[in-house]
Amino acid sequence: MVGDDYPATAVWAYGGSVPGPVLRVRQGTRFRAVVENRLDENTTVHWHGIRLPNAMDGVPGLTQPPIRPGESFAYEFTPPDAGTFWYHPHDNSLVQMGRGLAGALIVEEAEPARVDRELLWVIQDWRLTRDAQVAPGFGGRMEAAMAGRVGNTVTVNGRVPDAVPVRAGERVRLRIVNAATAQIVALRFEGHRPVVVALDGQPCEPHEPAGGRLLLGPAMRADIILDMTGRSGSRHAVIDDFYDRLAYELVTLAYEPGAPLREHPLDAPMRLPPNPLPRPDMASAARHELVLQGGMMGGMGMMGGMGMRGAAWAINGMSMTGDGHAGMPPLLTLARGRTCALTLRNETAWWHPMHLHGHSFRVLDRTASPGTGAIWGDTVLVPPRESIEVAFVADNPGDWMLHCHVMDHQVSGLMTIIRVA
Ligand code: C2O
Ligand code: CU
Ligand code: CU
Repeated sequence: MVGDDYPATAVWAYGGSVPGPVLRVRQGTRFRAVVENRLDENTTVHWHGIRLPNAMDGVPGLTQPPIRPGESFAYEFTPPDAGTFWYHPHDNSLVQMGRGLAGALIVEEAEPARVDRELLWVIQDWRLTRDAQVAPGFGGRMEAAMAGRVGNTVTVNGRVPDAVPVRAGERVRLRIVNAATAQIVALRFEGHRPVVVALDGQPCEPHEPAGGRLLLGPAMRADIILDMTGRSGSRHAVIDDFYDRLAYELVTLAYEPGAPLREHPLDAPMRLPPNPLPRPDMASAARHELVLQGGMMGGMGMMGGMGMRGAAWAINGMSMTGDGHAGMPPLLTLARGRTCALTLRNETAWWHPMHLHGHSFRVLDRTASPGTGAIWGDTVLVPPRESIEVAFVADNPGDWMLHCHVMDHQVSGLMTIIRVA
């Protein structure tokens, strides 16, 4: 994974590869996957961002029994939305994802935007030992209460990448999935002007990212159109500088020598066809506030006031830990079909990519700092001590998880259940 000078890294994998195989399905057609568990522990698969029936959502104890070692489970659904989605376990998630379990699920549009080529970058972060093995010691209390298990190694498609070959003049659709357990990335494409055409799978007005930085918290995705405007033979870095002093080069775009594919960027529309999302009706919305609490420097002490063992975080004073508990009552019950406006108020000193299952929400832009939110999304990055309001039509019946996608945060209390009935 980190190159020929190191031994191979032992991982947990879907179908033998890290990340797992790229799964593709046409929008509106049936998707079926039989998951056979050959781990020594329980698992499930969650199809992140897909608006699917509750029984297919892959949350152990809530939507299905865990898949025990040696058992299998057949997932089957028809994705209503085209876009870039992904899959990962929802049982012992911190460890299972930290050891490599994640993969991309691409739902293809009937009529995709015209490009020369498509690329997919699945980003994962790893904490590796000196001999390139996954470091033990998951779930340390300190890091759980801080930024989580941020890795010391970042891979793209399972490798520490060096050069990505590109050709002058070509137009590429680049799908980026942040499948890291903790790492937030802010990507700058030196010498290029990426245009964001979808966030979390959902098409948006094509736009350049705020300040030229594409900010993606764990679980977030972006589709960008990249016109390769560099000169043949040149090299351009893609930098992740989210953590100020820890900026590093994620990959290099290496232009092949030779004649450009075309002299001027392709003149074709970038806009993707819309997905059939129900429009929130703000006038009749039920309004709720979820307060994110706890963590180091959270003002209430690391474990203060939460009264639950192993909890470092809470939502509205309640800490749901581990992978959730069957029988824990939902924090909110929403009337089916009604619009829910949810204020996510982050009282903590840390960033939280907050994710809702079973729905896509609209991020109300007046509340979001530039670049932190999708226009539509299933995961929104809430900066420290800020609030973001999202709205969605609660049209998908069932009990749905809402949690932070920094895995250490999720398993130590930043998680709750929303019931749509
Ligand atoms: Cu990718 Cu419960 O989430
Ligand atoms: Cu999800
Ligand atoms: Cu968090």
